[in-house]
Amino acid sequence: MTTPPPAVEMRGITKRFGSLVANDRVDFTLDRGQIHALLGENGAGKTTLMRILYGLYHADAGDISVGGQSAVIRSPRDAIALRIGMVTQHFALVPPLTVTENVVLGHNQGVRLKLEDAHRRVSEAAERYGVDVQPRALVKDLSVGERQRVEILKALYRDARVLILDEPTAVLVPQEVEQLFDALRRLRDDGLSVVFISHKLREVMSITDRVTVLRGGQLAGSVQTSETTPAEMARMMVGRTTFGMPSLDEASSTQPAARAVLRLDGVTAVDNKGLPALKGITLDVYGGEIMGLAGVSGNGQSELAQVLEGTRLCTTGTITVAGQDVSGADPDRIMKAGVGRIPEDRHASVVPEMTVAQNMALEHLGEYTSNGSLNRRQMRAHAEKLIAEYQIKARPDDRIRTLSGGNMQKVILARVMERNPKVIIVSQPTRGLDIGATEYVRSRLLEQRQRGAAILLISEDLDEILELSDRVAVIYEGEIQGILPRTEADPERLGLLMAGAKDSPQWA
Ligand SMILES: Nc1ncnc2c1ncn2[C@@H]1O[C@H](COP(=O)(O)OP(=O)(O)OP(=O)(O)O)[C@@H](O)[C@H]1O
Ligand SMILES: [Mg+2]
Repeated sequence: MTTPPPAVEMRGITKRFGSLVANDRVDFTLDRGQIHALLGENGAGKTTLMRILYGLYHADAGDISVGGQSAVIRSPRDAIALRIGMVTQHFALVPPLTVTENVVLGHNQGVRLKLEDAHRRVSEAAERYGVDVQPRALVKDLSVGERQRVEILKALYRDARVLILDEPTAVLVPQEVEQLFDALRRLRDDGLSVVFISHKLREVMSITDRVTVLRGGQLAGSVQTSETTPAEMARMMVGRTTFGMPSLDEASSTQPAARAVLRLDGVTAVDNKGLPALKGITLDVYGGEIMGLAGVSGNGQSELAQVLEGTRLCTTGTITVAGQDVSGADPDRIMKAGVGRIPEDRHASVVPEMTVAQNMALEHLGEYTSNGSLNRRQMRAHAEKLIAEYQIKARPDDRIRTLSGGNMQKVILARVMERNPKVIIVSQPTRGLDIGATEYVRSRLLEQRQRGAAILLISEDLDEILELSDRVAVIYEGEIQGILPRTEADPERLGLLMAGAKDSPQWA
């Protein structure tokens, strides 16, 4: 009996960007009916390798075969013809159109499909693959998780037999992760092959059959998931198994300042649809304190962060920063009052086509301008200093869009922290980061706490909240359900509050 050829075989793939070797003679074999994890630190070359397979980048050397046939993949169109689909984190959907329109878009060329037929076909496909979407819904009204399902369905509708998912779970809440995994298992049983990129070893252990690890652009190893452990995977990724993951216990404790640096008093705001999103938030954050904000996503966290950044109007209530009233102030004034922000979507807080140096100076261009002209030399020197200080793997003139997730996050941290802000609003600071970068970001946040900054840490990662926060506030449907000191905050209590259980007197 002959074994069927692998779904995909990549041999000796090399890809250079200038002097940087992003993939260095990488071999990768994806079997039929396999869920295959691609692991590695930020910048290890995972996305690059998969962009080559999907025809978005062209390898400088190496061969690819698909289903045993040698293949030349010049563009995504070639990849789709070879029945390869890719879902990235930056969805390529058209928001004002329906799910159906997005799924069939560009596919039924020449064939004018009647809308009713199209809806029916899309809902049949959704049913067949166990992907839960509403064909008639407008994409702009969908959550991130739902949009991801539309992207997956779009690939499946094009008959993909190989599905590449680049950090699909980074944007999902735990329930959605389970739904995704159910769908993936079903697809695997159907003979599809899946490449699954993730930084979460727990997920890799639970869903994948095989693991391939990249390190510094080279293949570090490839093993069956059942024959490895998280510690072994970490060793392959970074060369060590122990991580001194920084947490509050190790940071020497500070005395929170007697004065609340950030004060919210009865703050209300509406969401994009005009519905109440914040219903009277009252919260004090002291200097030298990390206040964790826990909650299931969609309970007002994003709106709160936006209000505090000045990008969303606070309809009633007051916000003060070190005694200064900033309610209703614009982002510039809020920044000048001493608020630094590390937003949830790091791609949205940089200008992708600008260089690292420009992005680092972005919010303070005035300081590099004299007589109306920009002092580029000074801007570069400033960038070089921050790059060295924050150990960023990049050069001042690199376009920021070419940086890996971890390095982009470091640029944003550097930009905020060098100003020694009085208040830091930080959302999902370690999402999509590898273990080393997570360790780094956490220790920088603790440093800022030590320095005396008042930090509001918004995170869906409960472990992260528990490990870093002096106090934890729980938000539910736009209201603070309760505030627990670190000694009383445990997952069960927080979980109850996050689910909307009212503060029991015992914890009040
Ligand atoms: N278009 C590009 N131009 C220049 N350099 C690039 C480009 N794309 C990627 N790189 C560089 O190639 C290296 C590998 O990047 P890649 O995005 O493949 O890493 P990754 O393993 O996916 O990391 P992450 O986990 O952060 O997503 C990085 O050093 C990155 O800066
Ligand atoms: Mg990547």
